[in-house]
Amino acid sequence: MSEMNLVLLGPPGSGKGTQGERLQEDLRFPYYATGDILRAAVREQTALGREAKEYMDRGDLVPDEVIVGAIGERIDSPEAADGFILDGFPRTVPQAEALDAKLEQLGRVLNGVLLIDADDEEVARRLGGRRTCVENGHVFHVDFNPPKRDGVCDIDGSELVVRDDDKPDVIAHRLEQYHAKTEPLIEFYDHRSLLRRVDGGGSPEEVAAAIGRTLATLKLEAGGTV
Ligand code: AP5
Repeated sequence: MSEMNLVLLGPPGSGKGTQGERLQEDLRFPYYATGDILRAAVREQTALGREAKEYMDRGDLVPDEVIVGAIGERIDSPEAADGFILDGFPRTVPQAEALDAKLEQLGRVLNGVLLIDADDEEVARRLGGRRTCVENGHVFHVDFNPPKRDGVCDIDGSELVVRDDDKPDVIAHRLEQYHAKTEPLIEFYDHRSLLRRVDGGGSPEEVAAAIGRTLATLKLEAGGTV
């Protein structure tokens, strides 16, 4: 098997970031999470960050043209030559079409789109208790995955905070945006036989095991060994 190009799709809080961190360790491919990229840009007050901040704080998607270029550059970089994992991109049909165009230009294809699904109630529970580290975005949950010391990241010792967009009214708006603008991608990728559904409702370990099984199948389909 030559390369493995993957997309993680799913509602806010379904566990894409949690699983993405594990996948990155297992597969050793670069992991590009657009939310992390945008939050870093906001912290560093770059032009991208200044443009994105107000959309993110409201729970709106940033305009397609703002994010498409940032992802295109990364896919085209030498570190992504053997494969990549995208989390949070594409999030609209025009973004998916832009990804197709970029991959075609590079003579590459997507190998799979993993839909990590969870219902709105579970999402609200997860996002309501999420704590995120300010330095590197490591993710915890006050009940489901608590840090060893309250308010301190186990991994890098930095402070854990509530993300600005994890307030209840913003969570509700993010879910509306997901259903209206991102959910159409399920059909978009299913139609191309790229969609693989993973039940995100189990424990992080159960979800990781389901993803592992799905990836094993994808690798076999791509003609590689497991
Ligand atoms: P982004 O950061 O991508 O937010 P999101 O998609 O809403 O996803 P989240 O990071 O909130 O959730 P997640 O699925 O990663 O869940 P997590 O693993 O953290 O985007 C933020 C904003 O940036 C967007 O609103 C938009 O403005 C902008 N943006 C980003 N990409 C864009 C794009 N392409 N186009 C336009 N705008 C874009 O888990 C959540 C919590 O649950 C954690 O506390 C975790 O510990 C816990 N948890 C995880 N798994 C489990 C489990 N199995 N059981 C119990 N708890 C669990």
